[in-house]
Amino acid sequence: MLMNKAEKLLMNNPVRAAVQRHYEARRLRNMGGVMAGGRALEIGCGRGVGTEIILKQFGADTVDAFDLDADMVRRAQARLKRFGDRVRLWTGDATNIQADDETYDAVFDFGVIHHIPDWRAALREVHRVLKPGGRFYLDEVYEKFIMHPVVRALLDHPMQDRFDHTRFAEALEGAGLHVEESYDEGHFGFFVARKASG
Ligand SMILES: C[S@@+](CC[C@H](N)C(=O)[O-])C[C@H]1O[C@@H](n2cnc3c(N)ncnc32)[C@H](O)[C@@H]1O
Repeated sequence: MLMNKAEKLLMNNPVRAAVQRHYEARRLRNMGGVMAGGRALEIGCGRGVGTEIILKQFGADTVDAFDLDADMVRRAQARLKRFGDRVRLWTGDATNIQADDETYDAVFDFGVIHHIPDWRAALREVHRVLKPGGRFYLDEVYEKFIMHPVVRALLDHPMQDRFDHTRFAEALEGAGLHVEESYDEGHFGFFVARKASG
């Protein structure tokens, strides 16, 4: 589901970028470590701050990234131009990822899956495109936040079949993504999960 105008304002500003760079990325690095180079995928890249983080903080050699919203992809293209062919961007859907099986060493999700009605299909797709032993780094937004009356009034989210930390952990395991580290903040949560090495 696309973001409405209010959520775009919340996402496309320097405060959001600082939180993503200095809090979310740091927590995920502390939980899962960095990559030893290699290929990464970011689902729901928004305006591209996450892709920059994956290159600069996680040490990926290249990042492929997509978003459902063509407007966000255009913003990401402008931000990430300086990385040349280390970054490839497209408009796409996390429930039908345009990549071959076992392509990526790591997949990243900075607060995207809670926007997807059939979010379990997205987890199956992440599993499909990860190489054996590849890692899934993510932070997600839980039902408790989405259902808050103020949030409901301001933002658009799918309302059916949302999740909390336990339910999300179970769904990761169900999709073949073994949870190695996780952190539950109540309204939000962080995970590093790994696909079996085969
Ligand atoms: C809350 S924003 C997060 C954006 C960015 N990851 C960040 O942290 O700033 C959610 C993003 O997910 C995208 N999105 C929603 N459904 C999607 C889907 N099915 N596949 C890919 N991206 C999706 C939205 O367009 C939006 O850019």
